[in-house]
Amino acid sequence: MKLRENIYTVGVTDAEIRSFHGYETPIGTTYNAFLVVDEKITLIDTVKGAFAEELLANIKAVIGDRAIDYIICNHVEPDHSGALPLVVGAYPSAVVYGTANCEKELKAYYPELAFDFVQVKNQDNLNIGEKTFTFIPMPMVHWPDSMSTYLDTDKILFSNDAFGQHIGTGEVMDCELESQWLLDRAGDYYANIILPFATPVKRLMAGIGELAVDMICPSHGVILAESIPQVLEAYARWCENVTDEKKVVIVYDTMWGTTQKLALQLGDEYSQKGYDVECINLSEKHHSYAMAQILEAKYVFVGSPTLNNQMMPSVAAFLCYLRGLKPKDRIGRAFGSYGWSGESIGAVQAGLEACGFEMLEPVKAQWNI
Ligand code: FEO
Repeated sequence: MKLRENIYTVGVTDAEIRSFHGYETPIGTTYNAFLVVDEKITLIDTVKGAFAEELLANIKAVIGDRAIDYIICNHVEPDHSGALPLVVGAYPSAVVYGTANCEKELKAYYPELAFDFVQVKNQDNLNIGEKTFTFIPMPMVHWPDSMSTYLDTDKILFSNDAFGQHIGTGEVMDCELESQWLLDRAGDYYANIILPFATPVKRLMAGIGELAVDMICPSHGVILAESIPQVLEAYARWCENVTDEKKVVIVYDTMWGTTQKLALQLGDEYSQKGYDVECINLSEKHHSYAMAQILEAKYVFVGSPTLNNQMMPSVAAFLCYLRGLKPKDRIGRAFGSYGWSGESIGAVQAGLEACGFEMLEPVKAQWNI
């Protein structure tokens, strides 16, 4: 699809994917790539390896038998570099541009692949005729190699994973989607991918703050234009860890219903005090859904019955995921039911303490309530 004069989307839709390294993607995703045609032709990012032929067909539909001169590799993770071997095979004279970490990681991922590489640093330029790219490395948003690329003539920021959303339902532009729904998908993505990297995100926001940006082209989901102010405002809030002091998320699993009763009882108690409460049963909702609800919640309560002297595996997996995503300055509470030993409550308490949360008194029930 033509985005602007001589700028095209050539990426692919992966409508069927449902697990993105542990992050549930119920509506699939896209792997966005862009082609900029000037005196020289530049491809910005590639796609997941399984879609390489589709990418090559999309490129050929735009440029026919002309060759790609430059490939900008904003990020090495295989959802964006997996097709690189086939692209380099098809366009062997193309020169790859990326950060020093990008070069190191590409050579580790694809040791057999021969390609010319140019390392770039912050504010380096690449002129391709009338248009000029400016490189803006954004290390740890969310890998060491990560980078954004700005196209001055068109005021487009190719932001790679930053500002992405896992939406694979066919829309290309933000105006095709309801604005709050789109913001919620950007929030899901931030909570499950970007959350641990608040300081690098702040650096990125400062780095792009002075730029005139009419369009943000992320590597997943729809292209942002009219929603840019709302998405940037949300990112500013999220990277500053602004939470709702009256929001409680209660995450649990249950065996015979008592831990669920505790969850609902806690929920009622807080609702009656005027809190906004969401109870999430991990047998019904994925832990990545829970993370999205926690993004702006001050209170995180977690419950499990005792099973074989442990917490339930679903709750252990959630706590492992939660700890890795490092939400800060939350207030936690462990709860759970048991028959005769009751280790789960202490284990959940320890899991929440390991997240660095301030803890409220645990709540326990034996057999039933
Ligand atoms: Fe979309 Fe970090 O890859």
